[in-house]
Amino acid sequence: MGNTFLYLALLVIFHFPMTIFCLKSTTILTDQSALLAFKDHLVHDPESLLATNWSASTPVCNWLGVGCGSKHHRVIALNLSGLGLVGTLPPHLGNLSFLSYFHKKQ
Ligand SMILES: *[C@@H]1O[C@H](CO)[C@@H](O)[C@H](O)[C@H]1NC(C)=O
Ligand SMILES: *[C@@H]1O[C@H](CO)[C@@H](O)[C@H](O)[C@H]1NC(C)=O
Ligand SMILES: *[C@@H]1O[C@H](CO)[C@@H](O)[C@H](O)[C@H]1NC(C)=O
Repeated sequence: MGNTFLYLALLVIFHFPMTIFCLKSTTILTDQSALLAFKDHLVHDPESLLATNWSASTPVCNWLGVGCGSKHHRVIALNLSGLGLVGTLPPHLGNLSFLSYFHKKQ
């Protein structure tokens, strides 16, 4: 399972150069919907952390494990290690145009 995530994470990173051409059309709301899609694709969230914490009623940048850039205020980092999450990565993650650090490990 861990290897599958790593492989998919690398796919996301290798798609990064292509998303650069789409920067103008994405906003923090794009980042929010990408992460909500990620949450929807989880099959296991042991402590229901994301289920309660990743709520559209709170700013994405305040979500657990999400880091935003101080300058452009977009999601630049995801650190979901240690949460025991299991699931697949939806293509929506490719919309995270500013993401530069993604860590998913069992
Ligand atoms: C989500 O988790 C973060 C980090 O632990 C915390 O600062 C924030 O208040 C939480 N938000 C909600 C709605 O629980
Ligand atoms: C990622 O989160 C884990 C668990 O909260 C923490 O131990 C680790 O230091 C974090 N890593 C980074 C690079 O922030
Ligand atoms: C995000 O990505 C999905 C799937 O790749 C795509 O269908 C959708 O149009 C994108 N949304 C935005 C706002 O870019």
